[in-house]
Amino acid sequence: MLQFKRTLVTTALPYANGPVHLGHLAGVYLPADIYVRYKRLKGEDVIHIGGSDEHGVPITITAEKEGISPKDVVDRYHAMNVDAFRKCGISFDYYGRTTSQVHHKTAQEFFLEIEKKGIFTKKTEKLFFDRKADRFLSDRYVTGTCPICNNAEANGDQCEQCGTHLSPLELINPKSKLSDATPELRDTMHWYFPLGRFQKQLEEYINSHEDDWRQNVLNYSRTWLKQGLNDRAITRDLSWGIKVPLDTEEALGKVLYVWFDAVLGYISFTKEWAEKRGESDRWKEYWQDPESRLIHFIGKDNVVFHTLMFPAILMAWNEGLESECYNLADNVPASEFMNFEGRKFSKSRNYAVYLGEFLEKFPADTLRYSIAMNYPENKDSDFSWQDYQNRTNGELADTLGNFIKRSVDFTNARFEGVVPYESTLEDWDSLGINWQETLRQLDVAFEQFHFREAASLGMEIARAANRFLTESEPWKVIKVDRDAAAKAMALSLNLCHALAVALYPVIPETSNRIYAMLGFQDKIEDRFTRGSSLAQSLLGPALSKGHKLRAASEILFIKIEDADIAPELKKIEALLAEAEKREAGAEQDRMEFKPVISFDDFLKVDLRVAKVIAAETVKKAGKLLKLQLQVGSVTKQVLAGIARYYTPEEMIGKHVVLVANLAQRTIRDEVSEGMILAVEGADGKLFVIEPDGKDINGKQIQ
Ligand code: MF3
Ligand code: ZN
Repeated sequence: MLQFKRTLVTTALPYANGPVHLGHLAGVYLPADIYVRYKRLKGEDVIHIGGSDEHGVPITITAEKEGISPKDVVDRYHAMNVDAFRKCGISFDYYGRTTSQVHHKTAQEFFLEIEKKGIFTKKTEKLFFDRKADRFLSDRYVTGTCPICNNAEANGDQCEQCGTHLSPLELINPKSKLSDATPELRDTMHWYFPLGRFQKQLEEYINSHEDDWRQNVLNYSRTWLKQGLNDRAITRDLSWGIKVPLDTEEALGKVLYVWFDAVLGYISFTKEWAEKRGESDRWKEYWQDPESRLIHFIGKDNVVFHTLMFPAILMAWNEGLESECYNLADNVPASEFMNFEGRKFSKSRNYAVYLGEFLEKFPADTLRYSIAMNYPENKDSDFSWQDYQNRTNGELADTLGNFIKRSVDFTNARFEGVVPYESTLEDWDSLGINWQETLRQLDVAFEQFHFREAASLGMEIARAANRFLTESEPWKVIKVDRDAAAKAMALSLNLCHALAVALYPVIPETSNRIYAMLGFQDKIEDRFTRGSSLAQSLLGPALSKGHKLRAASEILFIKIEDADIAPELKKIEALLAEAEKREAGAEQDRMEFKPVISFDDFLKVDLRVAKVIAAETVKKAGKLLKLQLQVGSVTKQVLAGIARYYTPEEMIGKHVVLVANLAQRTIRDEVSEGMILAVEGADGKLFVIEPDGKDINGKQIQ
């Protein structure tokens, strides 16, 4: 493997449109922080860059709802999130905002450079325009009926009921969310980034990481590559955002698409970091020296933006350059999701624990530890209050905290607070822990982003240490053999030190408290020096004979009582009851029959038995299957939203019920000449209705 000189770690910029919750912490910010703290512990050159994503339509929607300006919205949540991260010990080297001048300038430079190279394409498209509001409507501002499942409240970009990604033009009865008016279609010109132009380069890039990237990251990226990359619009008709930096008529009223601008924030914020240190060119080292390593911590929903879009933007910039090329990410450790008490976090339903609120009641390190132990590395995980309580009480308080306190207290009481013996490496071997091996395992766990394992290894050392102290019984032994007790205490105290170091990336504040109890005046951070590895000191005795401890010990972790978490459990119960009521309500809605129709009306519907003779998935419409149906002597093509429930192979040969005289419709440039009947079963799964009988193909259903 290449030896890197320095590492730039970035974390997904959270939208400044709400407070970050524990799910965000678990997937992105805590793992990144653990990683950078470990790197610093090893004496490596590393910086952690993050910040607020302050553009995008949801922010203007919040502002409109509250009758305040978008700036007010982002100011509020930026401050809130900065504060929560600080309380949680997330150690950013710089935390920026995409509304900053440096960022606007950087994003505009990228736009201009790519425009100058003639890489963008321009396309005129039809977009809904609200005449009353005098504004173009971005996808999120249009609602209507879903063409796939008939949900009357589908959004312009996606139907929440069936999950289909939509374009507003596909909605039946579109309405503007601003005025409720039926919007009209108007021409509008936009700049497109031709992702397809970089298809081959991107494929090579992804393939070159076959062995070091997570499977989920490779899979998401390859699914996109397989479908063929399309042009992506990178401008929008909005007022909130970064202006398209051209003085032309066509640029009027256009801003950069939020994703185009956001990923560039990583660069802008590194510039601001360097500027703030008075070394304004330093940012280039991290971005453009091939010996620097770039790592993006993100959640799984952001993968393709970081493995395809952003690299393609950088490729476009780099094109034709001999030097000062931007590095592409060396790894993108995307997490799965952490759920909360068995369900998905949901901001809109308020089903969440917000980081800031949590830290008002409980200490950061207990949260960091139990979240690290539930890190959603390759599958979704769960945060539950019960698990949090168990880990805090059983592992942190009873095992780790107890061991440290016993070691320090006994030394203070019986050895005048002084390390009473010079321990050697051989003494360490007698502990029954293979230190060389433990250190190697820890290193692999941290370096390869296995943070659950790293935290577990730390706790295993604590368990072994606790066992050692209990079995050595220095409080008894001292009465007959003071030297043996002295040796046991010296080893225990050195184990305290080893634990403080090993667990530092996960529970930094606690590690520093242990450090202070061990008599160090400075903080662990103060001992970081480039090129010298504190982690190495895990290997052997770090506290020599005669080293003086601090006189007073402290309780490291306060146990969490049932009464402490009772209100939280109650809150969840209420939220779940609400959800149940909502679901029951939906059930009842379904039992309300539609208005009565005449027999003649019913006869207008031509229901036929048809046989599926071919089926395939539809490009870019993951929910749809394209079916060829044999209806007697005719063939008809139907698009059905069943791809999540049936493979094409499963459908072929089935008899289905076809609404044969439905007006033709175009979805995703494909014609659909009818629909097939299906029923929703448990968990929203669709079952296609399969009529049974002999020689029924083409027959009318009556
Ligand atoms: N704001 C986006 C989200 O929360 C993430 C942006 S990551 C960035 O999903 F790099 F693009 F900023
Ligand atoms: Zn739908």
